[in-house]
Amino acid sequence: MNILLLGSGGREAALARKISESPLTDRLFIAPGNGGTAIYGENVEISPLDFPTLVSFVKEHGVELMVVGNEDPLVAGVRDFFAEAAPDVLIVGPAADGAQLEGSKDFAKRFMARHNIPTARYMTFDASTIEKADAFLESLEAPYVLKADGLAAGKGVIILQDLDEAKATLREMLDGMFGKSSATVVIEEFLDGIECSVFALLDGKGGYRLLPEAKDYKRIGEGDTGLNTGGMGAISPVPFADDAFMGKVVDRIVEPTVKGLIADGIDYRGFVFFGLINVKGEPMVIEYNVRMGDPETEVVMPRLASDLTALLLGAAKGDLADIPAEHDKRAAATVMAVSGGYPGSYAKGLEITGCLDPEESILFHAGTKVKDGKLLTNGGRVIAATSLADTLPEALQKSYKAISEIDFEGKYYRRDIGRDVLK
Ligand code: AMP
Ligand code: GLY
Repeated sequence: MNILLLGSGGREAALARKISESPLTDRLFIAPGNGGTAIYGENVEISPLDFPTLVSFVKEHGVELMVVGNEDPLVAGVRDFFAEAAPDVLIVGPAADGAQLEGSKDFAKRFMARHNIPTARYMTFDASTIEKADAFLESLEAPYVLKADGLAAGKGVIILQDLDEAKATLREMLDGMFGKSSATVVIEEFLDGIECSVFALLDGKGGYRLLPEAKDYKRIGEGDTGLNTGGMGAISPVPFADDAFMGKVVDRIVEPTVKGLIADGIDYRGFVFFGLINVKGEPMVIEYNVRMGDPETEVVMPRLASDLTALLLGAAKGDLADIPAEHDKRAAATVMAVSGGYPGSYAKGLEITGCLDPEESILFHAGTKVKDGKLLTNGGRVIAATSLADTLPEALQKSYKAISEIDFEGKYYRRDIGRDVLK
């Protein structure tokens, strides 16, 4: 079968590699892809948000399955558009109604409240309820968590220690700090704990498969300091996510989410990313995403021992029964090399040299492109090196070796990925 994958990051590189390994896959197209995805399929110069051109492309190329890697097209309704314009194409990724789980923090919080899913206490405010927002902030203890309701490229959450600063920041957010996305703000109780990411693939009919869990490293600096990034590395499995913890995650969070979507009349076929926090052994939801994580996918896919294309097809058709999702027992670690200056401003178009085909690791390209036969940087996060090994320290060692053997001006990576859980 011919498959179209939307997106251009390391996540899509990891999905593309796994999809390409399936005997069910004939041609794989990636729109737009990056300098590395062309190893696994054919890059196509189409924006994931250009729905009419995507429809023409799938019709011309006999694409039967479309997999949406990133959230923007989902929140913008790519599935709804295809339902009208190309109804025969099977799609992995929810329609705009389900995508609200990520597209609106207030929607996600109301969903969790309705279905008794554990999450931080919260209230939602806009410019007309600013006095009530102040009163709610006064009722909470520091630190204060302010979240832009809409999509804000991962930057919409602000955590402040000081009450007056929180009140001032709330006003700035409502005044357009994140454009329309922060015209509504969710304020919530701060949860103290260690985070992990759990992933499920849903078929919309109550069937789902859990994928390996992962932990990502969001801050730019070692010891989890400095600005937030898209993610600087990831590990899987997560040592504290043992059977007891995962049992609670399934009973209290995954199952109620799957059932809640059905109860709310949402036909959700796609990935759900549960951003969780472990508060003294009790899992709580920090956020939902309606896609896989990046760089989590770069460790999750190598640990998926089953046929990804079969799983994607099952989810898209609404029937995951009898389709296995076995997890490889080995540990995986990924380390991201980023451009100097990231997550602030950085240069693009710098040549990448060194060992681009390491023996013991996989390089997943994120922000790269090929021009005139040269591999160039083309984003903040440039390349992730993933390795599998019997133990996490060995996997980390291999990934660090691979990342040290590639070169570009200004290359930076965190040297402490996984260190916190190995203590
Ligand atoms: P989000 O975009 O919702 O994932 O939030 C970004 C980050 O902010 C999360 O990964 C957490 O580290 C942090 N965060 C969000 N909500 C809370 C909360 N209620 N308590 C503590 N930390 C939070
Ligand atoms: N790594 C976090 C995310 O993909 O949102």
